[in-house]
Amino acid sequence: MAGVSSKATRLSFKERPGFPGKCGMDQIRVVGGNPLKGVIPISGAKNAALPLIISSLLTSDTLTLENVPHLADVELLMRILGNHGVDISVNGRRERQSDGYARTIHFNCPTITETTASYDLVRKMRASFWVIGPLLAREGIARVSLPGGCAIGTRPVDLFIDGLKALGAEIEIEQGYVEARAPKGGLVGRHYVFPKVSVGATHTLMMAATLANGTTVLENSAREPEVVDLANCLKAMGAKIEGAGTPTISINGVTSLSGARHTVLPDRIETGTYAMAVAMAGGEVTLENTDASLLSAAIEAIRAAGAEITPTETGIHIIGHGDDIRPVDITTEPYPGFPTDLQAQFMALMTRAKGTSRIVETIFENRFMHVQELARLGADISLSGQTATIKGASELHGAPVMATDLRASVSLVIAGLAAKGETTVSRVYHLDRGFERLEEKLTRCGAIVERVSD
Ligand code: UD1
Repeated sequence: MAGVSSKATRLSFKERPGFPGKCGMDQIRVVGGNPLKGVIPISGAKNAALPLIISSLLTSDTLTLENVPHLADVELLMRILGNHGVDISVNGRRERQSDGYARTIHFNCPTITETTASYDLVRKMRASFWVIGPLLAREGIARVSLPGGCAIGTRPVDLFIDGLKALGAEIEIEQGYVEARAPKGGLVGRHYVFPKVSVGATHTLMMAATLANGTTVLENSAREPEVVDLANCLKAMGAKIEGAGTPTISINGVTSLSGARHTVLPDRIETGTYAMAVAMAGGEVTLENTDASLLSAAIEAIRAAGAEITPTETGIHIIGHGDDIRPVDITTEPYPGFPTDLQAQFMALMTRAKGTSRIVETIFENRFMHVQELARLGADISLSGQTATIKGASELHGAPVMATDLRASVSLVIAGLAAKGETTVSRVYHLDRGFERLEEKLTRCGAIVERVSD
C-alpha cells in the first residue's frame, strides 16, 4: 500500500472497536463549581472526517488523513467502509503524536467489493448513507439502507435522491433500501438547485459529480467549512472543483481520482462547546489547534454573553466570568449563521444569564429534547413551536439527567460544570460519538468530571 509506514496498525473491524462507553451503560459524573483553567487541544472535526473517509471510496489509490479524531462515529464508519472493500491502517494509534491526540489513517480501496450498505450499519449513523454518492460514481450501482441516526427530527433523504436523479441515476426505494443505478457510461454532469440547504446532500452530490461525465453545477449548496475541507481533499485527489464555500459549486468530472494526503480541519463545534463551558463555569482557557474564523457567529454570541475571546495564532483564548452572563437571542441557520450543533450548549449557557433570552431552532424540528433535562437542573425554559424562552436562573443544582442526542448530551455536561453539587449524565454513548476524551480535556483544566462504569 503506497505511503503506509511499516508501523501502521491494520484494523480488524470484525469485533466492536475498543471504545470507552462501548457498552452504552457508562455515566459521566460532574461536580460543579470549579472554574476552568488551562489548555484544551481541539480535535479534528467529526463532521469533516466522516465525508473525507467516505471519499476514499472514490479512488483505488491510498488516501491518507491526518488529525482524525478517535470517536465512536469514526470507528463505526471505518467498519462500514471495511465492508465495501476499504483497507484501513492507523499510524500512532496508541502513541501520542505531536499535538496530543491526532491519528493518521490510511484508506485504500483497490476494488469496491460490496455495493450494498446494510440497514444494520447505516441505521446507527445517518452520515453513512452518504456512501451512495461514491459507490454510484465509481461502480455505477449502489444499494443503501435508509438511515437512522440522532432522533432530532424526521431527516429525510429526498434531496439526495432528487440530486442523484438529476445526474442521471435511476432510483427506486425497495424494502427500506435506496437502489440507485447510473446510466451506461456513468453519471452525467448537470445543473442542480438544492431546494433546501443540506450539508450531507452537498457532500454526496459533490463526491458523485467528481467522476461524472461533464460539468455539474450545484446551486444553493451548503457553505459549511466541512464542505470546503472535503472539496480541498477531493482537489488534492485530482478533482476539478470550484466555488466550495459559496452557494454555487461547479465540478468538472474527471475519469479517475488518485490518492492524496490531507489534514482534517479543526472541530468548530468542539471549539464552541468548550468556549461556552468556560463562559458558563468561569475561568481562563486556551483552546489549541483551532481557528476562530470557523465559528464567527458563535463567537459573537458568546462575546455578547460577556466572555472575552481573543484569537491567537494557533487557537482561541477565552476568559469567562461565570456569574455575570448577559442574555442573548439566537436563531440557528445554515453556515455562516449560528450552528444548530451549538444550540443546546448555548441554551445551557443562557440558563445562567441575568435576564430572558430566546433561541429559535430553524434546522431541525425536534431539537429541544435537552430542555426537559436542563429543567431537572433548575433551568426555567418554555417552548412554543421552534422557539425556546429561557429565564436565567441565579443557580443551577446538580441532578441525574439523561443524554438524548450528541450535542444535547454535552450541554448537560457543561451545565453540570456550572451547577451546585453533583450531576450524573447517563446514556454517555451519545457523547462518545462526537467528543474526544471529554473527561480528560476538562479534568486537565481543573473540572471534576469522571466516567463511571456500571
Ligand atoms: C449535518 C451534520 C449535523 C448538523 C447538520 C446541520 C454531519 C455528519 N452532520 O447533518 O451535525 O446538525 O448538518 O448543520 O456533518 N433535509 C431534507 N432532505 C434531505 C436532507 C436534509 O429535508 O434529503 C433537511 C433536514 O431534515 C434538516 C435540513 O435539511 O432539516 C438540514 O439537514 P442537513 O444539512 O442535511 O444535515 P446533515 O447533513 O444530516
